[in-house]
Amino acid sequence: MNGSARRRPVRVAVIGLGTVGRRIAAAVSRQSDMELAGIGIRRETPFSFLARRAGASIFSTGAHAAAGPVWELEGAQGGLGDLLGRSDVVADVRQAGLGATLLDEYRSAGIPVVFQGGERAADVELTFSSFVNYELASGKNVVRLTSCNTTGLARLLSTLHREYGVTRADAVLVRCSTDPDKANHGMINGALVTLGESHHGPDLRAIFPGLELSTTSIAVPMSQRHVQALTVQLRTPTHAREIEQLLCRTPRIVTIDRSSANTTNGVAEQFAYDAADSLRTFGDAPELLVWSASIRYEDGVLRLCTAVDMQSITVPETIDCIRRMFSPDLSRSECVRATDAALGLWRNGTSYAQIGLPAVSGAGALT
Ligand SMILES: NC(=O)c1ccc[n+]([C@@H]2O[C@H](COP(=O)([O-])OP(=O)(O)OC[C@H]3O[C@@H](n4cnc5c(N)ncnc54)[C@H](OP(=O)(O)O)[C@@H]3O)[C@@H](O)[C@H]2O)c1
Repeated sequence: MNGSARRRPVRVAVIGLGTVGRRIAAAVSRQSDMELAGIGIRRETPFSFLARRAGASIFSTGAHAAAGPVWELEGAQGGLGDLLGRSDVVADVRQAGLGATLLDEYRSAGIPVVFQGGERAADVELTFSSFVNYELASGKNVVRLTSCNTTGLARLLSTLHREYGVTRADAVLVRCSTDPDKANHGMINGALVTLGESHHGPDLRAIFPGLELSTTSIAVPMSQRHVQALTVQLRTPTHAREIEQLLCRTPRIVTIDRSSANTTNGVAEQFAYDAADSLRTFGDAPELLVWSASIRYEDGVLRLCTAVDMQSITVPETIDCIRRMFSPDLSRSECVRATDAALGLWRNGTSYAQIGLPAVSGAGALT
């Protein structure tokens, strides 16, 4: 991995063109300092067809591909080795838990890999959050992003901590049981309670020094956006209005106000609104959404409700992570701003001067 003197774009291979993978491929294509080296698929889907039509190079990286070049997929330009041979980094976006199965191939090719949150912490050198430990991605070879809900919590709690000091947070996560594009799993009735603490608490505590956080998760028959209800104890006294203003100017957090043109407070309605209103790819809304009217503050305790577009929220952080791996001198602010500008996330009043926790220094990688 070269430093800031690097001139040519970073060549990114995306392996897996599912819910998150196709969004990462599209996001990479929009960065001026990155290039989509190719996309690894194991079968044709409408999305591989669209990717071809957009000019992407397709490689056959199914399980059989390890045996040598594979040409079963019509028009494929080769197998896994061919794709790795023309790439600087891999975004492995296969189903949760598959990541470790190709680690040896990535290591032999000498290529760093960025996984999503479905991979085990034990298989990676770093769990990455732009808001919490951006600096630590430099020099790492195997990194995973935080999961979708954890990414939202990391943005919010690190911002509150920086400003007021968070002494404790409790979050109830109401989760979609499937994605809009997945017909083969999900529940149709009831509520599935995660017994004990959900993985979000331990995941975030592991990278966020000293954070006292407990999470409870309930999956429900819903396919659009997770909803989070949070209770946060703050050290420095404040007001609901001040908190709202802080969140308003924070990158990747949007507040919605019932008095504005957008009056919705339902998740399905909001999703439909964003999709209709947005000129973004897939109608995505990668920002953490906060309902302004849900913000209540009394005697040091903040309560609020948020929503997470699980399909897209980790995409900007994935781009930050790749950029930081190859630009060790690039500050968090510069990197996040560059990603947001390319993805159309920047908006009036957003401040990039300070993002999340103060910069982490040294090699104290936390996973
Ligand atoms: N979906 C979410 O809401 C969400 C949110 C945040 C994080 N994540 C994380 O993101 C990761 C991906 O999740 P996802 O929901 O995007 O999964 P997904 O929709 O199931 O997509 C995974 C894709 O990988 C493909 N694949 C599997 N093995 C492959 C191989 N050897 N070569 C090429 N393609 C291969 C699959 O192909 P087939 O179609 O043939 O199976 C599928 O298209 C997981 O770590 C997950 O935990 C997901």
